Amino acid sequence: MLHPVVLSGGSGSRLWPLSRQNQPKQFLTLIGDHSLFQETILRASALPDAGAPVTVCAEDHRFMVGEQLQEIDVANGAIILEPIARNTAPAIALAALHLVAQEPDATMLVLPADHLIEDVQAFREAVARASTLAAQDWLVTFGIEPDYPETGYGYIARGDALDGAGYRVARFVEKPDLATAERYLAEGTYAWNSGMFLFKAQRYLDELTRLAPAIVEAARAAYSQAQTDLDFIRLGKDAFAASPNDSIDYALMEKTEHAAVVPVSCGWSDIGSWSSLWSVAQRDDDGNRYEGDVISVDTRDSLVRASDRRMIATIGVEDLVIVDTPDATLVARKDRVQDVKTIVDKLKQAG
Ligand code: GDD
Ligand code: MG
Repeated sequence: MLHPVVLSGGSGSRLWPLSRQNQPKQFLTLIGDHSLFQETILRASALPDAGAPVTVCAEDHRFMVGEQLQEIDVANGAIILEPIARNTAPAIALAALHLVAQEPDATMLVLPADHLIEDVQAFREAVARASTLAAQDWLVTFGIEPDYPETGYGYIARGDALDGAGYRVARFVEKPDLATAERYLAEGTYAWNSGMFLFKAQRYLDELTRLAPAIVEAARAAYSQAQTDLDFIRLGKDAFAASPNDSIDYALMEKTEHAAVVPVSCGWSDIGSWSSLWSVAQRDDDGNRYEGDVISVDTRDSLVRASDRRMIATIGVEDLVIVDTPDATLVARKDRVQDVKTIVDKLKQAG
């Protein structure tokens, strides 16, 4: 059985003003009928041989997670509540500890809650290949063909082929600077790290114990103090707070010798910003994506999202992002939307 583990602890501040601290992007319905979190659970639950999903999220989001799971009516599985965010390496360790407690040989498929996958069949085939490698004790990641030098991703250099299922990871570099990312793209042997992983839960714990023992120790202590309340698992707060704050990419993938990569071409995208949402959304003949009550004249290549509250009208503009919510409106050039983060930081400082 394959156990999906959905990481749902991020904040997604670059999708402000729609995403907020109490409403991170994975819980928003951005494309289609479900939130990204719900889509992720549905996609994982439909995999052949999938067990009930394990969700790892912030304690503050428990009601939202509970409600969203109820709406889609899949077997809930466990919901592990983090009293404090310690990034992905500890979050995955918690899920691994939970799984091995029930099934020592458990294999886990780690999925970020905020990605879009268009070609589900290709994703399934890649998961099947990765499962073969995980059975041989590889720590498997999924590699995406890069198309520009993104500095927000991890880069994977492929090494020797493994049984036609994938490749040994020759080198893993998390979030390189721009010059390095450009060089990797020119070399042509690097893939983007998708942020999805597949391995035996015990294998992950053993390797992390070797490379970052304090993380496993803290997760183990927090989990051993856990209290279960329906599907929710509440951890020992102080014990978990003692964990180093680190991602799986830095703590494990950059250092391990036992990583393998399975290339996948499945219409993957990390909806990191308004422009990436625009680029994956259905658009009209003028390149516009409108949502809600929008009226426009001579408008091109823009994303305009009205709130229930009022209409938005545009005339003679191009390459804009306009997002209205009841208490804040964003107007930005599409090539500047990375700076939404700056606005959010300013708002935080202003308290
Ligand atoms: N439960 C929990 N707790 N989840 C978390 C935490 C945490 O403390 N921190 C992050 N997450 C979740 C996020 O919600 C997201 O779904 C996933 O873990 C990855 O975290 P991000 O913060 O979005 O990572 P990233 O985008 O900077 O980088 C990762 O993803 C890239 C692809 O999108 C890395 O794996 C990169 O190597 C990769 O290229
Ligand atoms: Mg991300």
